Amino acid sequence: MDYRDYIKANREAWNEVVPVHRKARGEKFLKAIKSPEYTALDGVITGKLKEIGFEGKSVAQLCCNNGRECISLRNIGSGPVTGFDISDAAIAEARELNKIAGSDCEFVRTDVLEIGPEYFGRFDIAFITVGALSWLPDLDKFFKVVLNLLKLGGHLLIYEMHPFLYTIPCKDEPDFDPEKPFKIVYSYFRSEPWAENSGIDYVGGTTYKGKTSYSFTQKLSDIINPIIRNGITLVELNEYPHDASDIYAFLEKEQKLPLSFILIGKKN
Ligand SMILES: C[S@@+](CC[C@H](N)C(=O)[O-])C[C@H]1O[C@@H](n2cnc3c(N)ncnc32)[C@H](O)[C@@H]1O
Repeated sequence: MDYRDYIKANREAWNEVVPVHRKARGEKFLKAIKSPEYTALDGVITGKLKEIGFEGKSVAQLCCNNGRECISLRNIGSGPVTGFDISDAAIAEARELNKIAGSDCEFVRTDVLEIGPEYFGRFDIAFITVGALSWLPDLDKFFKVVLNLLKLGGHLLIYEMHPFLYTIPCKDEPDFDPEKPFKIVYSYFRSEPWAENSGIDYVGGTTYKGKTSYSFTQKLSDIINPIIRNGITLVELNEYPHDASDIYAFLEKEQKLPLSFILIGKKN
């Protein structure tokens, strides 16, 4: 399959799930986002944002979904924020939430691999959070875009699920064994994409017969090498035993496995 076919299929699958997530989050979320104190960002990533001096800085969030993290960034003190996402429905919701929150983020519906030169050199920070990278079939192309978006001296900040997690089924997968939740079932070195059609409802935890989506197992080296190849300086890599995704919380208790990571890079 050409990478554009994966992207096209994923756009449809994400368009389908956005209203499902919205319903699952309910009125409570709509009420929460009205508060100027609202933030969806946990203490760990907020701490790293502070370390790189994010206050007042322009931020591009790649794969921003419904914009809740963009709005959060503005609430906690960033400069202007632009969120990019492939899903029409996610961007429509992001614009609506932006209004409800009284915020001023900009939202762009685009494949992040195709972001145009009008956005190049505009951002101090390229921000990527949980559940974004595994949808991207070409990380070399992606980090080239990231490099182009950044100003000289700008930072790349990634807060993601640890790739090791892709070896273990999560609770809604048929391979999940409650007796052995730590069991490694899938190869860390898997190269073929995951084609799934039971929906992407990680918010409500429901399954439904949906459009086929395609995601990719990426080893830590599959993420780091394209960053280095594109000339982004690796500043810091931290691995954590806490789950940033809410999908693998059942692995947190033992504190034995790497469940999330933060990577900081810099355009020199
Ligand atoms: C798991 S969500 C990100 C969630 C976000 N971290 C949050 O907590 O709100 C992944 C997002 O990536 C988007 N996405 C997937 N492939 C993309 C692509 N090629 N270009 C832009 N966005 C993409 C999807 O539409 C979806 O909104």
